Amino acid sequence: MFSRDFAWGAGSAAYQIEGGWQSDGKGPSIWDTFCHEKGKVFQEHNGDVACNSYELWDKDLECIQQLGLTHYRLSLSWARLLPDGTTRHVNQKGVQYYNKVIDDLLACNVSPMVTLYHFDLPQALQDQGGWKSAGIATLFDSYAKFCFETFGDRVKLWLTVNEPRVCAKMGHEDGIHAPGLKELGTTAYLVGHNMLRAHAMAWHTYNSFYRPKQKGAVSLAINSDWLEPLNPGCKEDIAATERDLAFTLQWFAWPVFVTGDYPEVMRSAIDTQSEKMGYSGSSRLPRFSKDEPAILGTADFFALNYYTSRKVKAGGDCGQMCMRSDQNAEEVLDPSWPISGVFWLAVVPTGLRKLLKYIKDTFNNPPVYITESGFSQVGPLQIKDVQRCEFYRDTILEMAKAIEEDGVNVRGYFAWSLLDNFEWTDGYSVRFGLFHVDFSDAMRSRTIYMSGEEYAKIIIKHKSAIDN
Ligand code: GAL
Repeated sequence: MFSRDFAWGAGSAAYQIEGGWQSDGKGPSIWDTFCHEKGKVFQEHNGDVACNSYELWDKDLECIQQLGLTHYRLSLSWARLLPDGTTRHVNQKGVQYYNKVIDDLLACNVSPMVTLYHFDLPQALQDQGGWKSAGIATLFDSYAKFCFETFGDRVKLWLTVNEPRVCAKMGHEDGIHAPGLKELGTTAYLVGHNMLRAHAMAWHTYNSFYRPKQKGAVSLAINSDWLEPLNPGCKEDIAATERDLAFTLQWFAWPVFVTGDYPEVMRSAIDTQSEKMGYSGSSRLPRFSKDEPAILGTADFFALNYYTSRKVKAGGDCGQMCMRSDQNAEEVLDPSWPISGVFWLAVVPTGLRKLLKYIKDTFNNPPVYITESGFSQVGPLQIKDVQRCEFYRDTILEMAKAIEEDGVNVRGYFAWSLLDNFEWTDGYSVRFGLFHVDFSDAMRSRTIYMSGEEYAKIIIKHKSAIDN
């Protein structure tokens, strides 16, 4: 049985749905720049218009109500609020837009969960070094303070950064996300470090100045697959899995929930590789300064984005000084796992239950929100998305088992995503929505998928089980 105040939500992110990339004084973000460069995104798609939620928010609200959600997760576009990234200039039209979204949600009895940063850094800040520069942490803190001050009377659930690992690795090492840097072996660690510093500063700001009055909760959204050794009897595979976990879930969760510092397995793997490659500088994994706000304890709940699982075996060192070699773990799929519309998303609901149990045991039984969980389709209209219906039924069942049988303190579930949207490098070719969006229609008409109806039924069933 789910608790009375269990959050039944769905999520979105500003760049993926809003459009209005130049409307009413918004500044450009790194995703605007990235998409406008040739060859970066599937068929040169971009988020200039996306679902046009900037103009069609009323339609989104109808979708939210149709699902019967108790919560809606959205992100704020930093560059819409602060066009050059700093509080020197506030774009009042942006403030008005988010005020309306928040007020409308509350008027419909839906609580907002707000992400401050979902991949879209103001380009003006990128021009000054972006997440690589140490100064970004204080700029983020000022932006966060501005948001707490402006919206915190009504927003009670905050996420500082979404998936720092994805920003750091895909944006700065693999170069397949904005800002598109391919700097191997150091930059991703530096970016992750600055994201943790930024997150911690914002958490302390909230804790000291806003929590007493606003009484909300702040965390960061950490993405992780469930990982297990390919051969559970093989020592090398077990060690590779530990390493893999250290470079994924623990990279951000360990400093915040356990020690205030990176997992030892991660540092020693990086340092060993540095030595092997004849690198003589100091550790490529930065160290936290004692003079800055502590990292430990800066999350009021665990926010997990879970999509899939992997089996892990030793190997992966490609002879270069890069994250792949440091991690030195090869991830493989179990042939029994069905694959969704995208190659990376094997459907493994049981992995969610195992990961939740692991989080309970490793991070001292924190309250957990599953801030993203979803299933992708490739291609055009397929309103009867039978597989996605099954996906939601199975996943929610595994979550229920984690709560009831394993005693995990899960407080909410956010399906990804409310609408089909701009799926980063895959553009509009990959659809995660509970609502279909017709991107060839100027009105971007939204139509509920069968899975949207299924999710609505699940929500009603659990709500009425409590009432009876
Ligand atoms: C996450 C991301 C979302 C969404 C999802 C599906 O990494 O936070 O914005 O795109 O993946 O791929």
